[in-house]
Amino acid sequence: MEKIKVKICCGTSCFVMGAAQIQMLEFDPPADIKDKIEIEETRCMNHCHNTASKYNKGPFVEVNGELIEEANFEKVVNKIREILNQE
Ligand code: FES
Repeated sequence: MEKIKVKICCGTSCFVMGAAQIQMLEFDPPADIKDKIEIEETRCMNHCHNTASKYNKGPFVEVNGELIEEANFEKVVNKIREILNQE
């Protein structure tokens, strides 16, 4: 089975908004998803510059290309589990 690709933005804006907490996925992932994900940390993906809102919607994470705004550890894990349940 192909691994689920999780791209965590570690640009300055996303980092201060909480991306560091999401990076825990790399070091301490829940047991049920541990071997099923591939983590990539990226520089600013430019989503923070594209928002029409004056409020930043970061941190941004992509799971298999699907963008998650205002991401946190739980939201990302839930998205991964959702994808696993569809397979
Ligand atoms: S810092 Fe994350 S999208 Fe710009």
